[in-house]
Amino acid sequence: MKVKSLEWIKGENGYLKLLDQTLLPHKVRYIICKNTDIVYRAIQALAVRGAPAIGVAAGYGLYLGARCIKAKTPGEFLKRLEIIAQKLISARPTAVNLAWAVNRISSSVHKLNSSSVSEIKKQILLEAKAIHREDIVTCDKIGKSGSGLIRNGMGVLTYCNAGLLATAGSGTALAVFYQAKKEGRKFKVYVPETRPLLQGARLTAWELKQNKLDVILLCDNMIGKLMSERKIKLVVTGADRITANGDTANKIGTYQVALMAHHHRIPFYVAAPLSTFDFKLRTGKEIPIEFRPETEVTCIAGKPVAAKGVPAYNPAFDVTPSEFIKGFITEKGIITPSHLYKEIVHV
Ligand code: MRU
Repeated sequence: MKVKSLEWIKGENGYLKLLDQTLLPHKVRYIICKNTDIVYRAIQALAVRGAPAIGVAAGYGLYLGARCIKAKTPGEFLKRLEIIAQKLISARPTAVNLAWAVNRISSSVHKLNSSSVSEIKKQILLEAKAIHREDIVTCDKIGKSGSGLIRNGMGVLTYCNAGLLATAGSGTALAVFYQAKKEGRKFKVYVPETRPLLQGARLTAWELKQNKLDVILLCDNMIGKLMSERKIKLVVTGADRITANGDTANKIGTYQVALMAHHHRIPFYVAAPLSTFDFKLRTGKEIPIEFRPETEVTCIAGKPVAAKGVPAYNPAFDVTPSEFIKGFITEKGIITPSHLYKEIVHV
């Protein structure tokens, strides 16, 4: 693994170093975040992106904000912390890992019941680091849970980027591929470019090539043809939020991929950590979907491709109904949609 999507540098007076994913694959540049605003803007601009990675980044973003709060009492401090927490959560609404990470840190400081503001600040950084460490371990476990699905000589398809760039570790969907390669299997990974922002072309193809996997890039409208030619035997994608019934929000276009896979009887798996499951929501209809600027559709890499003034539709995510998902590859093994509640809530 050659690059890290994010890193905390030094101790309590340190900063968050984020790989600027908007510049990939042409430039490897970092954003130095010394306050919450920079982290918030980096999340909104997709400089850091992917559900687990934005959760980890937001944890550090909360600490950067907390570090600057000048409050005399813990009560006053916690009130101001809550404002920062809500602002970070509002940066992107669909990926539940963002709210999950921020809320986990907030509840850990409430449990602390401390009389000292400086102790609470320390706890925030400790918890942000714990989330970061756990994500690295979780990615490897997801890889091991799913690698057995890949056989020698297989063609597999992923969508968007659910790799090391989307997490603090080796990824979710792509962790499965990295692990299968480690175990000695040879296979081809088909990567659709993923319009509008081309995470497949710019990020997934780049990171797979860096890690010496056999990768083939295609346009999004080539998936059906490849499937009809039986070149794809397995689909593995990531997820931004999975509801109690197994409906899954992921990058716009994932639903179409799942439908095509279903038609061609190709197993479609979703790889995700337990932090991406949201059992407060019953079905995918309740998932808030982020809409992004029309210019992401009317332009490619900043260059207009449509006539001036043409309106565009730009939801960043869609929802794949659970009936099209064969299983969820998690750090606790592979779980089928019908066993979700039993196996996750009661473990
Ligand atoms: O808009 P993005 O690039 O943040 O969308 C990311 C995705 O949809 C990923 O597939 C998902 O977050 C899973 S990441 C492990």
